[in-house]
Amino acid sequence: MPTSKLSGPQSPTAVSTIGLRKSYGDKTVLDGIDLHIPAGSVFALLGPNGAGKTTTVQILSTLITADAGQAQVAGHDVATSPDGVRAAIGVTGQFSAVDGLITGEENMLLMADLHHLSKREGRRVTADLLARFDLTEAAKKPASTYSGGMKRRLDIAMTLVGDPRIIFLDEPTTGLDPRSRHNMWQIIRELVSDGVTVFLTTQYLDEADELADRIAVLNNGKIAAEGTAGELKRLVPGGHVRLRFTDPAAYQAAASALREATRHDESLTLQIPSGGSQRELRSILDWLDAVDVEADELTVHTPDLDDVFFALTGDAGTPEQPKEMAR
Ligand SMILES: Nc1ncnc2c1ncn2[C@@H]1O[C@H](COP(=O)(O)OP(=O)(O)OP(=O)(O)O)[C@@H](O)[C@H]1O
Ligand SMILES: [Mg+2]
Repeated sequence: MPTSKLSGPQSPTAVSTIGLRKSYGDKTVLDGIDLHIPAGSVFALLGPNGAGKTTTVQILSTLITADAGQAQVAGHDVATSPDGVRAAIGVTGQFSAVDGLITGEENMLLMADLHHLSKREGRRVTADLLARFDLTEAAKKPASTYSGGMKRRLDIAMTLVGDPRIIFLDEPTTGLDPRSRHNMWQIIRELVSDGVTVFLTTQYLDEADELADRIAVLNNGKIAAEGTAGELKRLVPGGHVRLRFTDPAAYQAAASALREATRHDESLTLQIPSGGSQRELRSILDWLDAVDVEADELTVHTPDLDDVFFALTGDAGTPEQPKEMAR
């Protein structure tokens, strides 16, 4: 199978797929998925329930096989070299792999055994990771007594035992409270700063916005959109520049200069539809300069990822129009 076209010429590629397909019975779950994820980056796969996020993770981590298409992970083809893939990756599934009947430490040592670490090395790695994930104190307690956040941290600690270069996190923060979510984000950022590639799935748009270098939105078996958070936000209408004035005369002058602006006379603000690009901002400022007025405040408003998500996956009972447009 030719694999050369899968790897980019410049930066090493952690994960790439071409035309990945998967069906269950007559239900097409993945209908041709192309992905390209550079090493050392964070990639977020977003999608509503049942979109195929877990299925994608399972294919890339060799737990199931695709019906068609190619996928390379860490330079290995998932179909022809699953062992090579497995040696390079760690997977934290959507549902916890933690055994509640044994202690956190025992769960870790079990993973060390699975990775064929020596007893001594297994102990060292276990102690290190438990400390790093703030679980040293709880190490000797049965994992069933852990809180959701602690279990999730243990799950990820277990994933890291084999020192994987690529990790798959399937909904790493679902069910966590805001503080635990932020802790998890911090953990993920630290992994990335160590050079690990992170492939995460999430239903939380703020999570993707916060963590991911690139985001793909999965809908109806296809990638509905892919790009940075900023690029995705620019896909939906609703972006605008808001100019606020304190001097009514300046406001009037600006309002007559900027024809396409929506006026808010009480608050002396003007709202101008704009994608927020440098060129658009400059033209607004040029207009203001031309009539010699200065705004007291200029703010750029871009639609958030929620708008993008609803616009792209709008057939599932979600609003047809992005929020910004409905306002
Ligand atoms: N083993 C299976 N047999 C039959 N259908 C399956 C199987 N696994 C998944 N599916 C179906 O494939 C579709 C995609 O499931 P998947 O678990 O990948 O979605 P998801 O995006 O991870 O959803 P969620 O956000 O709920 O975790 C669903 O319709 C699901 O019912
Ligand atoms: Mg899932």
